[in-house]
Amino acid sequence: MKSFYLPLSAALATLSIAFPTDEAIAKRATPIVYLAGDSTMAKGGGGTGTEGWGVYLPYSLSLTVVNDAIAGRSARSYTDEGRFTTLANTVASGDFVIIEFGHNDGGSLTPTDNGRSDCVGSGSETCTTDAGVVVQTYPTYLTNAAKLMTAKGAHVIISSPTPDNVCETGTCSYTPSRFTGYCETVVSNVGSLASFVDHGQYLANRYIALGATTVDAFYPNDHTHTSPVGAALVAGQFVKGLLCANNPLAAYVKNTTASVAGSCI
Ligand SMILES: *[C@@H]1O[C@H](CO)[C@@H](O)[C@H](O)[C@H]1NC(C)=O
Repeated sequence: MKSFYLPLSAALATLSIAFPTDEAIAKRATPIVYLAGDSTMAKGGGGTGTEGWGVYLPYSLSLTVVNDAIAGRSARSYTDEGRFTTLANTVASGDFVIIEFGHNDGGSLTPTDNGRSDCVGSGSETCTTDAGVVVQTYPTYLTNAAKLMTAKGAHVIISSPTPDNVCETGTCSYTPSRFTGYCETVVSNVGSLASFVDHGQYLANRYIALGATTVDAFYPNDHTHTSPVGAALVAGQFVKGLLCANNPLAAYVKNTTASVAGSCI
């Protein structure tokens, strides 16, 4: 600025550049990665001896990762608690939000509503609980959440949930849950800033290759929550999914596709 005394119009133009009123155009020099999910992603996992995979994702990225996953949450309860709104108020253009739910989204709404189960359906269906609470579907909750993020210019990655131990019967096999298809529906609802990682399938394929003895050891307490070693592998398979799909976030992955175990699908 050459002179301190600018014509009013020029001063206003300068102000409008320095202080954009539209938050959507505020872009960080370096994007931040935010995680929204449940105990399988959260710090501390599902209790003693377990860890969430979000804790290990930072080792593979050149970006800061903010892990906002919280144990026990579903697409519905994360929404109802205002957590997606808070996240949307935090993200800037170019940031990444990874959303992975499913473990707490199943179950019945009647006779007792646990505040987490969604209305079953792939569209805009609603259910009403015995207490009169109107409940939306998983795709509705996550479509609404993702649109809040993309309206700010953030990328949204909708990730299919991790499977429970696919080897617990002694033979390893995987059938995706309905949430995987729902995730793809959310991505098509949201548009080009949204992408899908089939984390469940990547992880299941890796587990099947490793076999029951190895995989069982990743589940110290139950068939859902992994040990820290298991969580690192779970994170690695998410990274593999990013790399194989050339996801926009893959530009910030430190590792080469070939260096991460597993195969592209
Ligand atoms: C990527 O490389 C880093 C070391 O730079 C390592 O800590 C991390 O585990 C690797 N990630 C995967 C998924 O192999």
